[in-house]
Formats: sequence, structure tokens, C-alpha cells
Amino acid sequence: MHKLGDILISREDIREKVRGLAAQISADYAGKDILLVGVLKGAMIFLADICREINLPVVIDFIVLSSYGLEAQTSGVVLLRKDIDDNIEGKHVIIVEDIIDTGVTLNFLKGHFETRAPASLKTCVAFDKFSRRTVDITPDYYGFQIPDKFVVGYGLDYANLYRNLHDLRVIDFIDE
Ligand code: IMP
Ligand code: MG
Repeated sequence: MHKLGDILISREDIREKVRGLAAQISADYAGKDILLVGVLKGAMIFLADICREINLPVVIDFIVLSSYGLEAQTSGVVLLRKDIDDNIEGKHVIIVEDIIDTGVTLNFLKGHFETRAPASLKTCVAFDKFSRRTVDITPDYYGFQIPDKFVVGYGLDYANLYRNLHDLRVIDFIDE
């Protein structure tokens, strides 16, 4: 059984952090066009927020990976369900993800795009569960480092629920 637990990061803190990240990206890529690739479904809210704060010409695309299922543990196997629509050759690509946990997913995505000759490739995640990493990968941009807890809200789900919550909240798992 599970229940919705405490707020870990408030909507106000998230909003402020997203503005800061967007300002940093706008400065780092000044004079360039960028392609933001969101990972569905989790990154939809983060992408929607950050793209509107970036002061550059932005193109948006999405990729769909295999579902996390109903489990709170990653399977370790990443499957591509839907690729982006356009050629990324010569483009400045930023992969936008909701959360990095073991790093398997982001590592897979980097490999997936690296071979297609983008002008540059970076990663941007809202939340980083850094203590859980099994793959040696650090996101180029991240919002918050968080402890090893299962979190929902701001696009993140548990069993497909809670994506619409404004704040990032913890799920408490209760033994029966
Ligand atoms: P990784 O491949 O282990 O880094 O896992 C990344 C993916 O697992 C994310 O894109 C999320 O979909 C999912 N995930 C990892 N931790 C959480 C969590 O605390 N809440 C919701 N989804 C999570
Ligand atoms: Mg995800």
C-alpha cells in the first residue's frame, strides 16, 4: 500500500529554480537555436515550464520510452517507443528529463543521440537522485539534488497517478 506523503520541494522553489536554469541555458547558448527533446511522459511539465523561460529560438520534440510500469524500481532495460521527428545533425540538442535515478535512462538517451552528429548534446533534469547512480553520468543542468525517496508530482508519477501535483512530494510505502 502507499500514501501520498510530505512535500519535498514546493512549487515556489521549483518555479524559481526553473527560471534560474532557463537563464543559464539562455546565456550558455546565446546566439544559437536549440532543440529541446522532452522524454514523455514525465518531462512534459518541466519542459513546458522551462521552454517558456528560455530567451532563444527553441524547437521542441518528444521521445517516448518504455513505461516504468507500476513498479517503483527501474527495470534496467530501456526501450524506445517513439523517436523524435526530425534530423538533429548540426543542431544544439538538450535532452530534458524529469528525474535521473540510476542513470540508465539518460545514458541510453545520450548514446541514442550522440551517433547522429548533433552540433552539441547536453542533458537537463529537474531532479537528481545522485546517491542511486549505477552508471557514471552527471546531468549538465539539474534543478535539485534529492535524497533516495520515491517522489511524485511536477510530471512524475506512481502507477500513472500524481503527475498533476504542483509540488514534488514523497510516496510513503506502507507494509500490510
Ligand atoms: P533511471 O534510468 O534509473 O535513471 O530512471 C529514470 C526514470 O525512472 C525516470 O525517467 C522516471 O521515469 C523514473 N523514476 C526514477 N525515480 C523516480 C521517482 O522517484 N518517481 C517517479 N519516477 C521515477
Ligand atoms: Mg521518465
